[in-house]
Amino acid sequence: MTYRIAPSILSADFSRLGEEVQQVVAAGADWIHFDVMDNHYVPNLTFGPMICSALKPHARTAAGAPVPIDVHLMVQPVDAMAAAFAEAGADLISFHPDASSHVHRSIQAIRSSGCKAGLAFNPAQSLDVLDWVIDDIDMVLIMSVNPGFGGQSFVDSALRKIADVRRRITACGKDIRLEVDGGVKVENIRRVADAGADTFVAGSAIFGKPDYESVIGAMRRALG
Ligand code: DX5
Ligand code: ZN
Repeated sequence: MTYRIAPSILSADFSRLGEEVQQVVAAGADWIHFDVMDNHYVPNLTFGPMICSALKPHARTAAGAPVPIDVHLMVQPVDAMAAAFAEAGADLISFHPDASSHVHRSIQAIRSSGCKAGLAFNPAQSLDVLDWVIDDIDMVLIMSVNPGFGGQSFVDSALRKIADVRRRITACGKDIRLEVDGGVKVENIRRVADAGADTFVAGSAIFGKPDYESVIGAMRRALG
């Protein structure tokens, strides 16, 4: 299993975002997780495609390799924002199925823009839609907090849901990533991986500490 750690810049210092992206990449981030909130689908407001394109040049390793930008859309409707983020340099775009009137169409639109497509599920939401679209997506994002804010506690029922998603991914046999988002820390990342996750978003656990490299290193050691 190749594990990926995706720091969420929602908890970064917004007054110097470019530098924060560079520092977390230097500390070993695999992806940059970019939380887009619209004060409509969720009760908070963050950043849009212009910030994404401004940060894109900062998401590179010292050797110049690009670090994927993992856009998590918490917006309704979905399609126009997804297109704007594809244009702004996103590599993966996830959205919440209950925020799109035509989920299959939104997935197709994201993929035809050259990005990978993910579906995001809130803690109290069932996985039924996966019965119909799992063959068409590149990632499932399981929310282990209610979307809208960083720094919340991990909702334990997400572990059962992750295990359910892992069974579905195995049954379909495709290369689909299983990302978990919310309340992930050094102390619980192993349990989340054991449930079946392979990609871990962490905001406050990383940006809340002075030394990003030591947190990401401790997460990797916990993953083994
Ligand atoms: C919540 C966001 C998360 C959030 C995670 O709506 O989707 O990505 O930033 O933050 P932590 O890791 O602090 O729970
Ligand atoms: Zn997120």
